[in-house]
Amino acid sequence: MRRKLAAGNWKMNGMQASLAELARLAQAHRDSAVEILICPPATLLQAATAYAPLTVGAQDCHMNASGAHTGDLSAAQIRDAGGRAVIVGHSERRADHHESSQMVRAKARAAQAEGLTAIVCMGESAAQREAQNTLDIIGGQLAGSIPDTATGENLVVAYEPIWAIGTGRVPTLAQIGEVHDFIRARLERRFGAGVGRSVRILYGGSVKPDNAAGIFTVSNVDGALVGGASLTAAAFSPIISALDAV
Ligand code: 13P
Repeated sequence: MRRKLAAGNWKMNGMQASLAELARLAQAHRDSAVEILICPPATLLQAATAYAPLTVGAQDCHMNASGAHTGDLSAAQIRDAGGRAVIVGHSERRADHHESSQMVRAKARAAQAEGLTAIVCMGESAAQREAQNTLDIIGGQLAGSIPDTATGENLVVAYEPIWAIGTGRVPTLAQIGEVHDFIRARLERRFGAGVGRSVRILYGGSVKPDNAAGIFTVSNVDGALVGGASLTAAAFSPIISALDAV
């Protein structure tokens, strides 16, 4: 069985004072069956590890183990700081930092080599969806961004339509289900049924307390990657509870 995962991506938000939100979450969900992962900015990563049962991840890593890469973090450094996972290939990094699927794949491989879970993000633009190219785009990003080293423990796939991120617009449940079923089928075809069925697939893009329960009923949705609504316990907690209730 795949353990449900509620992951919060804080992006470039959060100060020391924000750690109080983690204390509230940890208290409210101390007996949760759902895995709760917080990906704060790097400045808070180590401090965020103090709030069990919450686990902590980073928002990006470099593909190399160490060296002259000013401003970057290696997977080993994330692990050393207490991180257990890292988001790679978020659409904001693909756009802002010109990251190709090939680079994302190298980052995911580096993360897995250090024992981290790589949360590999993918998603279509509004124009690509309107042109009915969604499954082609996702198929290409899957093939290009996921390394051969993937297992059910070291890979999570996050489907995040770019047009749904931070917009309040969410695909229909049928649209989410179509993409998640497609991702599952592709994972099974490439890695075999054992690994393919054990990889968790998250939906991300404007997940909020009022739409989470519906999204979590969709087949092959194993949880969510939440941006804005993960910044406060008041907003993230009901999403976690909705996932726990599935
Ligand atoms: P929002 O939940 O703010 O739309 O962000 C989604 C996201 O990009 C998570 O990685």
